[in-house]
This record gives sequence, structure tokens and C-alpha cells, in this order.
Amino acid sequence: MNDQEALRSSPVHHPLLETALESVVRGAKALRERFQTKVRIESKGIANFVTQADLESELAIVNTIRDRHPDHAIISEESHSDRADSKELWIIDPLDGTSNFMHSIPHFAISVAYYQEGRPELGIVYNPIRDDLYLAVRGQGAWHNGAQQRVDEADRIDASMILCGFYYDRGRMMQATLDTIGDFFRNNIHGIRRFGAAALDLCNVGCGQYGLFFEYKLHPWDYAAGQLFLNEAGGRATDCNGQSLPLHQSSSICATNGHLHRRALEIIERHWTRLCAGYPSKSCFCKHIQ
Ligand code: IPD
Ligand code: CA
Ligand code: CA
Repeated sequence: MNDQEALRSSPVHHPLLETALESVVRGAKALRERFQTKVRIESKGIANFVTQADLESELAIVNTIRDRHPDHAIISEESHSDRADSKELWIIDPLDGTSNFMHSIPHFAISVAYYQEGRPELGIVYNPIRDDLYLAVRGQGAWHNGAQQRVDEADRIDASMILCGFYYDRGRMMQATLDTIGDFFRNNIHGIRRFGAAALDLCNVGCGQYGLFFEYKLHPWDYAAGQLFLNEAGGRATDCNGQSLPLHQSSSICATNGHLHRRALEIIERHWTRLCAGYPSKSCFCKHIQ
């Protein structure tokens, strides 16, 4: 993708689209250059890594935005944590799917979202290896490589293929995820897939390939752009209690084509409630499970 070409052929319009696309193009260049090379890797916890590529992509994205809009706030996974209630806010995951990247699996993405007064305005999720661009602007639809996308119409779990994610936890949260997968199988789903890049998972539900996606812990940078894409495609994303996804803290997620939402929550919430048992409030347990 070239940002000028992408702009000229863009089906959507927004005053900040050019900045957003340029930042993604620069981040993508950094990721392409490092893909399948020996990169410096640091551990952030069990199976949770940050590579040189994450950092270089982030620097390129943030610098592009900062050069043009020094007064805008930024939340980005590796380096910036401005206030989530800022009037003009960018939320960035410079490399979603770091584990895939490290293992030379070409399924990862850059996720860049722009929020104004807490409302998502613009979202881009881009896989630089496959040159796959998912683009959404509030009120203007969800677009994949120039084609408008809609969620799947299935209104039964047993007519759906589903997606899941595992957080880095190897204890109770992992077990709850496995138990939920078992419940979905017992509900005769067509199948379940785990690809390892939540931003792409959300877009793929928006594109109608999957009926739903769930994970017990994600961060705002994982879902900020993808949730707008999904909403614009006619779907719905909430936490496992059916509440809106927060921008100031991590959250569980249930993202569906809309028709399956109530039924999906019933299944996911069962294990979520067990997971939270013993913690003073549902929103605080994430601080205890790293
Ligand atoms: C991760 C991916 C993965 C999800 C993890 C995320 P990262 O993001 O989205 O699919 O299961 O919970 O943290 O660390 O590769 O940016
Ligand atoms: Ca991520
Ligand atoms: Ca990341």
C-alpha cells in the first residue's frame, strides 16, 4: 500500500485519514524490513514479547502523528499512555500478533484508531505482508481492500464458525477459555479457530467469515480500531457482561455479528463469572491475573 494511492482510491473520507494512512504506511515499512530477520526480543512476561520491530513500527507511527498533530493524545502499547478521556486520542498497536511475527507467520497487523471525545471516528487495521487493508470511518461503513463488508447473517451458534484468543495467563484464565471452547463445541459450532492477532479477528468477524470472537483479556489497543470496523459492518462488541469496551483499562471481549450476541454472552459469561469468583469486583480481577 502507498498512502497517496490508498487516499485517492479510498471509499471513505475523514480529515485525519491522510495522517492515519501515512502513519500505517511508515509502520508497515518497518515491519516488512524486519520480517523473517533476526530481531532483538525482550520478554514482558510468560510468552509475552516485545521485539525491535514492535518498537520501530511504533516510533514511525507515533512520529507521523506527532509531527502533524502535536496536541493530540496517544495511547500506544509500548510507549505512550496519555489520558483515555482526551478530546483527540489515537490508540495504537504497532504490531498486533508479535508471536506470529517472531515465528515468521505472516498473520499480524498494525492497528491505528482515532477517537474524538471518547467516540471512535476512524480505524485502520493493516497486514503489511498480505497488503490487506481494513478501513472504517464512523457512519461510512467497513471496507476491506476497497470492498464494503457486512457481518454474517447467521442467527444460530450451530450455523457458525467462531474465533477465540488466549491471553498470556497459563492458569485460571487459560482454563476458563478452554472450558468455554468445550461449551461452544457442545453447541455444535462448525469449528473454532485461533489465529493470534485480535485486531484481525475483529475485522474478520466484520467481513462475515466468523460469527463471533471472544477472549477473556485484551487491551484497548487490541480492539480500538477493530471494534469500529465491526460496528460499521453491522456487528457488536462488548465485554463479557454486555457493557461497552473501555478505553482506560483492559477488558474481556465478546464480538459478534449482532444476531449471536445474547447467546454468545450466555456461554462466555458462565466461565467469566467463575473466573472472577473471589475477586472484589469483576473489573479488578484483570489486575490480579497477569
Ligand atoms: C496479542 C494478540 C493475540 C491475543 C493477545 C494479544 P500482541 O497482541 O492480539 O491474538 O490473544 O491477547 O495481546 O501482544 O501480539 O500485540
Ligand atoms: Ca495486540
Ligand atoms: Ca502489540
